[in-house]
Amino acid sequence: MSSERLRVGVIGAGVGAIHLASYAQIPEAEIIAVAGLDDDRVMRVAAEYKVPRTYREYEHLLAAPDIDAVSICMPNHLHAPVALAALAAGKHVLVEKPLARDAADAARIVDAAKGHDRVLMVSFDKRHRSDVIWIKQYIDSGALGRVYYAKAHWMRRTGIPRLGSWFVSKQQAGGGPMVDLGVHVLDIAMFLMGEPRPLAVSASTYAEFGPRGQKGWGWGGRLAQFTDERLPYEVEDLASAFIRLEGGATLLLEASWATHSAASDDFGVTLYGSEGGVEMMVRNYTNVDTVRLFGDINGVPTDLTPKIPAGNGHLEVIRRFVAAVREGTPAIPSAEDGLRRNQVIDAAYRSAAEGREIVI
Ligand SMILES: NC(=O)c1ccc[n+]([C@@H]2O[C@H](COP(=O)([O-])OP(=O)(O)OC[C@H]3O[C@@H](n4cnc5c(N)ncnc54)[C@H](O)[C@@H]3O)[C@@H](O)[C@H]2O)c1
Repeated sequence: MSSERLRVGVIGAGVGAIHLASYAQIPEAEIIAVAGLDDDRVMRVAAEYKVPRTYREYEHLLAAPDIDAVSICMPNHLHAPVALAALAAGKHVLVEKPLARDAADAARIVDAAKGHDRVLMVSFDKRHRSDVIWIKQYIDSGALGRVYYAKAHWMRRTGIPRLGSWFVSKQQAGGGPMVDLGVHVLDIAMFLMGEPRPLAVSASTYAEFGPRGQKGWGWGGRLAQFTDERLPYEVEDLASAFIRLEGGATLLLEASWATHSAASDDFGVTLYGSEGGVEMMVRNYTNVDTVRLFGDINGVPTDLTPKIPAGNGHLEVIRRFVAAVREGTPAIPSAEDGLRRNQVIDAAYRSAAEGREIVI
């Protein structure tokens, strides 16, 4: 085990601020630099987390020889080019979800990490929530028996991230809520189900509100100070996918940024097993009483609510990334997991476009 601290750079100052906050809590990590085009935000986060150096363009951060590892917290279309450049520069890489805009880009990143023998990890922070980890241990104890059906959702009533920004560009984001939010709960469901191989996907997508400029969290967003460009709305605002898994189980996946519904900003999974069921329901990012267990006790249907202490998913992701580089522990969630999620989502978008089931 190395006694040196891992010297890190964070590229992007949106969710990148959460990466900085997490590295700042890990004694084995030393924050060297943050990069971003939005000067105000970069300066603000640099001051808050006492970051010694700032850059605008990511290329300058990657050229710094005193940086061992980077977090890539940039628009989805930049994940692949920046990860490839970082790996080529000898850096270890943590990429925000989704691993890439699509599976082809994701595969290129995975190959490059192997070629350069660097750690590559994807930040599915929700997987490291304490309720998800608790459910995984419960399932692994055999309590659910055989899980044969699952539902996963992330639904918002009003929550298109930023109208006019990269989030609504097909070329830059890769898609709408399915690749933005659906990827989180797809990851949770596949993790909890033990990574069954996805066989086929049948999906539909809709864009009811975005094209009318409705149900956004604002216009243009945080880059507005240096660009007046407003990108047209090209992605879905609701997607639903039915996924057939090896072994016969199926998964219903729903994701939306905008609906007329009772949803607020809610995500969860439900697993139906031969011996028991479990539901995780997270409303507005709560950590309290999110899990319910279903079974029969003495022949009577019984619900239980385990009191699971709150955790911090991003902190756990970053702790694991630092440990993976310094100590060679497994980089989980792995880049291969990220690639598999991109493959399912690509198949969902193709299925919706072609109006038929797609075999993966
Ligand atoms: N896990 C989570 O909870 C979570 C939450 C939000 C976003 N994300 C993911 O993080 C990524 C970023 O999302 P965001 O909401 O922070 O986006 P954002 O638009 O708020 O921030 C993007 C950042 O990238 C920087 N950037 C863009 N081009 C650059 C360049 N050429 N050089 C240097 N910096 C550049 C911008 O200046 C900005 O600081 C996305 O992939 C998104 O899916 C994850």
